[in-house]
Amino acid sequence: MPLFSRRVAALTQHRMSITLRSLPENYRAVIVGASGGIGAGLVRHLATDSRCGEIHALSRSGNAPSGAKIRGGRIDLEDPASIATALDPVTAEGPVHLVIVASGVLHGEDFGPEKTWRHLDAASMAKVFAVNTTGPALVASALLDALPREGKSVFAALSARVGSISDNRLGGWHAYRASKAALNQIIRTCSIELTRKRRDALIVGLHPGTVETGLSEPFRDNVPDGKLFTPDYSAERLLNVIDTLTPEQSGRCFDWQGEEVLP
Ligand SMILES: NC(=O)c1ccc[n+]([C@@H]2O[C@H](COP(=O)([O-])OP(=O)(O)OC[C@H]3O[C@@H](n4cnc5c(N)ncnc54)[C@H](OP(=O)(O)O)[C@@H]3O)[C@@H](O)[C@H]2O)c1
Repeated sequence: MPLFSRRVAALTQHRMSITLRSLPENYRAVIVGASGGIGAGLVRHLATDSRCGEIHALSRSGNAPSGAKIRGGRIDLEDPASIATALDPVTAEGPVHLVIVASGVLHGEDFGPEKTWRHLDAASMAKVFAVNTTGPALVASALLDALPREGKSVFAALSARVGSISDNRLGGWHAYRASKAALNQIIRTCSIELTRKRRDALIVGLHPGTVETGLSEPFRDNVPDGKLFTPDYSAERLLNVIDTLTPEQSGRCFDWQGEEVLP
């Protein structure tokens, strides 16, 4: 099946317009990874929401969609000083109502996901954990205190279904799976503290589906018909899920349909 046919279903369902009614008027959003496929889609959608006051679109490369409500900036999740430099000015301006960490790494120029334990490599694992686990944890550390004391607010990080331990039947991709499982544990742990400090707030992991981005590009030959999403379609579905989630669901991971991904 040619690639175009597999993604038609997602394209025809897509509309570029969103309203996050569960967040307050003029809500402030931060997207980390705004240069990525899904991250840029999230920024584009939020820019269409009349309730959204401003979007801090942060990325390592500095690339991000542009627009009247969009404020760009750089952040390198492998550099704690860069995280502070990027986020301190954002929190100094007031509460942040929506944070989505949409960055992540699966492969690089000199490494890819492992097919066997024989391929495990310390430097590659450290890189994957730095970007997928430690980086989002440090963003949470910097921004959870900036969520408002009252009213719904959301911290979300893009996780992955392959981070589910109970759902792991295929094996392989050791570092990526483990980094996402660890991210899910960070989210769960932060949720317990968040409940005590911000009872209307929630922190969740999100699985975006299989999305046509650079991250998935080498690995999507066997994606079933209609299951390869455009970044804009996935972003819209994720924002709709965020809009319907309640604080009782904090600490868990949900897919693009709003169904829980079990740990
Ligand atoms: N695509 C899928 O099918 C799929 C499936 C399941 C889960 N996910 C998850 O969805 C998230 C987004 O992935 P994507 O598909 O949109 O991938 P992508 O298009 O490759 O984007 C990856 C993003 O991560 C950023 N990034 C990488 N290293 C970074 C660092 N050290 N500091 C800051 N940013 C860094 C990149 O920034 P620069 O380009 O500016 O360097 C880019 O914005 C990831 O967490 C991924 O694990 C994706």
